[in-house]
Amino acid sequence: MADPTSISDVDAGLRSVGYLPGESTALVSFLAARLGKPVLVEGPAGVGKTELAKALSRYLGRKLVRLQCYEGLDEAKALYEWNYRKQLLRIQAEAAGTGWDAVQDDIFGEEFLLARPLMDAIASAEPVVLLIDEIDKTDQEFEAMLLELLSDFQISIPELGRIEARTHPVVLLTSNNSRELTEALKRRCLYLWLDYPSVQHELEIVRLHAPELPAAVAAKLVEVIARVRELDLKKPPSIAESIDWARALLLLGTDEIDEDVFRATMSIIVKHRTDLDVVAERAGVRLGLSPRAA
Ligand SMILES: Nc1ncnc2c1ncn2[C@@H]1O[C@H](COP(=O)(O)OP(=O)(O)O)[C@@H](O)[C@H]1O
Ligand SMILES: [Mg+2]
Repeated sequence: MADPTSISDVDAGLRSVGYLPGESTALVSFLAARLGKPVLVEGPAGVGKTELAKALSRYLGRKLVRLQCYEGLDEAKALYEWNYRKQLLRIQAEAAGTGWDAVQDDIFGEEFLLARPLMDAIASAEPVVLLIDEIDKTDQEFEAMLLELLSDFQISIPELGRIEARTHPVVLLTSNNSRELTEALKRRCLYLWLDYPSVQHELEIVRLHAPELPAAVAAKLVEVIARVRELDLKKPPSIAESIDWARALLLLGTDEIDEDVFRATMSIIVKHRTDLDVVAERAGVRLGLSPRAA
């Protein structure tokens, strides 16, 4: 199990498992691992927020426990719930005439508990990486419950008592910014803003994911992507799209990105009808693409 002692440890460690961190990413990850504070990672879709948690789990040698958030997510799906079926079966199996007290003692034991991700992370004997992904999709009530959990690292179950963390997880919360999170949550977390990377950084990432793509094509690709991002689009292409595009061009055996290649493949990086129109209109001069040589 890795135990980083410096920022450069974390930087090298993340690289060794296939994640190329920016400066502040390595810094905040180091602090998270050492201070035991949760990290709130915000930024547009597809810039490596989820992947950072996965990479940290690989690098630190800790199991990844993931809670995918969605609208309407509640404690029963995030924390724990009672296994009603099993409880019912037990009640039926008890001899008639067993008093309620005895039955109750029986059916509210750990055996009848269904642990959900948050409880798993807290109760784990080995320290884990806990990813609470897309927290902005839940409501404020859920956030409040989470706050309590993140400050005390314990869960109270009325029928059973308190379950305290045996180990301290590294916690990452991600948000795509679809709503503003509460100040109370932000106060308890370290903060990492992940934006679209610099051209140089993105080139490194693309080359990592598509090493066989000719260097000149990869360089042109990240340059074009950067220009496309400058257009006023509903959904600018993210790193995920850059990687997809690189892989597609590799498969197609492309040795130069000219206007024709761009038009034929631009739906890989731009996925809204209106955005496609905007991009198609600017494909020539604005994106720096030469028409195909005759
Ligand atoms: N710094 C990075 N190093 C390596 N791969 C990255 C990096 N950032 C993003 N990626 C890749 O980009 C893709 C999208 O990342 P993801 O974590 O799913 O984005 P998000 O969770 O922010 O929407 C993944 O395939 C991931 O491997
Ligand atoms: Mg994600």
